[in-house]
Parts: sequence; C-alpha cells; structure tokens
Amino acid sequence: MSQRTATGVSLDIAGLTVGYGGEPVLHGVGLTLRPGEVVAVLGANGAGKTTLLRTLAGLVRPTAGSIELGGADILTLRTEDRARRGLALVPDGQSVVAELTVDENLRLGALWRHRGAARERAIAEIYDLFEPLARRRSSAGHQLSGGERQMLAIGRALVAEPALLAVDEPSLGLAPLIVGDVMTALRDAAASRGLTVLLAEQNVTSALSIADRGVVLSLGTVVADAPADLLASDADLRHAYLGF
Ligand SMILES: Nc1ncnc2c1ncn2[C@@H]1O[C@H](COP(=O)(O)OP(=O)(O)OP(=O)(O)O)[C@@H](O)[C@H]1O
Ligand SMILES: [Mg+2]
Repeated sequence: MSQRTATGVSLDIAGLTVGYGGEPVLHGVGLTLRPGEVVAVLGANGAGKTTLLRTLAGLVRPTAGSIELGGADILTLRTEDRARRGLALVPDGQSVVAELTVDENLRLGALWRHRGAARERAIAEIYDLFEPLARRRSSAGHQLSGGERQMLAIGRALVAEPALLAVDEPSLGLAPLIVGDVMTALRDAAASRGLTVLLAEQNVTSALSIADRGVVLSLGTVVADAPADLLASDADLRHAYLGF
C-alpha cells in the first residue's frame, strides 16, 4: 500500500442518471477525463455538481449509467474500495478535523495508505506544495483561516496519493484573493503529480483559469464540454448558463 501512485488515471462517465427518490437530478450525464487532465464542472446552484461528485465517490447510487476509473468499472465498488483504486473526494465546506492540528489532520489522511518513512515523505511533500500549511503545522484546524482550511482539506486527500482528485467548490466562502491561492495550489499539485482533477465550481472564472477543459451542467444535463479558453470566451454560453 505504500507504493507511490505516480500519475493520474482516466475517468469515463456515461449515461449517468441519479436521483434522490423523486425525479432524477442528473439525466444521462457523460464526461471523459484523460490521465492528468484538469476538468472543471461548472453550473449554477442545484445544477447537480455535488451529486455528480458524490455519485463518483459511491455515496449516491445511480439508477443508470457507467463509471470507469482507469478503464475499470467501479460502479459496484464501495466508497472505500474506490478510494483504494485511487479516487479521492474533497467535499465542499473545507472539511477538516477542527480539534486536531494541521499535522495530525495530514497524518490521519495518510494513515490508511502509508506507514513509516513513506508516510513522513508523503506529509513532507504536502508541506512543500502548500507552504501556508507548513507554517501552521502545529495549529488546530479551528485556528486556521478559511483558505488554510481549504488547503488542508485538499492536502489531506493528496497525502494518500490519489490518481484522481474530485474537489467540490473549493472557492466556497473564501475571499477572491484567497480563491486564487487555493486554485494555484491545486493546479501546482496536479501538475507536479500528473494528477487527474475533477473540479466542481460555481466560480467559473477561477476554475477555468486552472482547468484544461470545462463541462457545463444545467439542471442535471451536460450543455457544453469544451476547452477552458473557448468556454471562457463564449459570451452566449456564459450568459445562458453561467450567469455572467
Ligand atoms: N440529499 C438530497 N435529497 C434530495 N434532493 C437533493 C439532495 N441533495 C441534492 N438534492 C437536489 O439535487 C439537485 C442538485 O443538487 P446538487 O447539490 O448536486 O447541486 P450543485 O450543482 O452542487 O449545487 P450548488 O452549487 O448549490 O452546490 C438540487 O435540486 C437539490 O435540491
Ligand atoms: Mg454543490
């Protein structure tokens, strides 16, 4: 288990239909990520971004569709088995353990994956990537700023060296300047590891600034899937679905 996952994996989602008992909230959603690609899932409140990420992690069961990670069907796997295959979800809300220090939070993230020297090396790599965390390694989670907490939430997922990182709304509740820092940190982490990243965001401009490609969800349907620079400059699409 202490083997290093060197590069990102592909993700193939097709025909995904998901609901919470009533009408579906995702309708036949399909998207493909190549290994090492950073893809932003964009869309307004209630578009289905979180539902897509939770379905990917195995927290919600789809009624139809397929999910393949690195070419292998993961749809029937439990959440923890998907994690063992290299899938990590960072939920929205900067979730860290408030009572534990930065260092302890990172250790918790690494616990199931690494031991001994490999664990120390994995944690040291996170401090190299996220310098603000290195400065605050002895501070408790509740003492951190929002941006630091978000970095810690991402760092805690990264320390287990996933092959695909799904991050839900990392910009939520952060000041614009800090959003930029968090996005840059995410981009650097992805680039240094060749990690595949699925980034759900309402903050279209910052998400597209680090993404290779963007997928726009509207009411649970994919309405656009295009290179990030094309999406950012498509005024009609932005007006219609992204509110600016
Ligand atoms: N646990 C749940 N039970 C019932 N309906 C839900 C549940 N979670 C989400 N929904 C509904 O599913 C739809 C999609 O919600 P989801 O949270 O996936 O959207 P989102 O794109 O992440 O929105 P936001 O940008 O506000 O986070 C919404 O209509 C929402 O009300
Ligand atoms: Mg959401």
